[in-house]
Amino acid sequence: METGPDTGGWLDDTRASYDTIADSYADLTRHLLDETPAERSILAMFADMVRARGGGTVADVGCGPGRITAHLRQLGVDAFGIDLSPGMIEAARREHPGVRFDLGSMTDLALAGASMAGLVAWYSLIHVPDEEISRVFAHFRRVLRPGGPLLLSFHVGDESQLKTQGYGGHPMKLFVHRRRPGQMIAWLTEAGFAVETCRTLTSAESKLGGIILARRQVTGWF
Ligand SMILES: C[S@@+](CC[C@H](N)C(=O)[O-])C[C@H]1O[C@@H](n2cnc3c(N)ncnc32)[C@H](O)[C@@H]1O
Repeated sequence: METGPDTGGWLDDTRASYDTIADSYADLTRHLLDETPAERSILAMFADMVRARGGGTVADVGCGPGRITAHLRQLGVDAFGIDLSPGMIEAARREHPGVRFDLGSMTDLALAGASMAGLVAWYSLIHVPDEEISRVFAHFRRVLRPGGPLLLSFHVGDESQLKTQGYGGHPMKLFVHRRRPGQMIAWLTEAGFAVETCRTLTSAESKLGGIILARRQVTGWF
């Protein structure tokens, strides 16, 4: 799998960490959306936006065990998942038989240009270092149809923390990057997106969550 430059080894560390915790992550998050009505409401808004533009395929990038992919499918969206971690892809296929889940990295999305009606990255940009964000957003823009919606969630804050264990005490080695909504909006605008909605909320994990709904600009300088 081609994943692009990785000078700090963060992709390898992220992949290995999520391989280690895939099964417990799936167990701990399986019913989490039941407890997060604000998240469900914005996912419903995103599904409406996809349908309003005639539907089509939606990529859930960094899908983990596929809980958001499956929820979007329940909302009538033709969603499939992509994840860096083979363990997560295995868990997603087991949790949601018959749904498409592909191994891949958001740093090098193997999808055709303008082939996606929408794209979701739900708490998966949190491990991408600042210097790689513009590369990732350029891929998101390339694969989205003009006007197609992009839905992001992230942890709000300033600091980056090394996480050494999680999801039941399993060993992990990866960075979690918190970001200010203003910084996310600036990166998205530079990448050719128009931001429509930005919310902050307290998630079921009791962490401050940020959610941004944007669209690929229909026209512009790209
Ligand atoms: C916190 S989990 C979120 C999973 C899922 N979106 C959810 O909300 O349950 C982060 C996920 O992002 C994936 N991920 C991290 N970096 C990635 C990358 N460069 N490309 C694709 N997936 C990535 C991880 O493997 C992991 O499954």
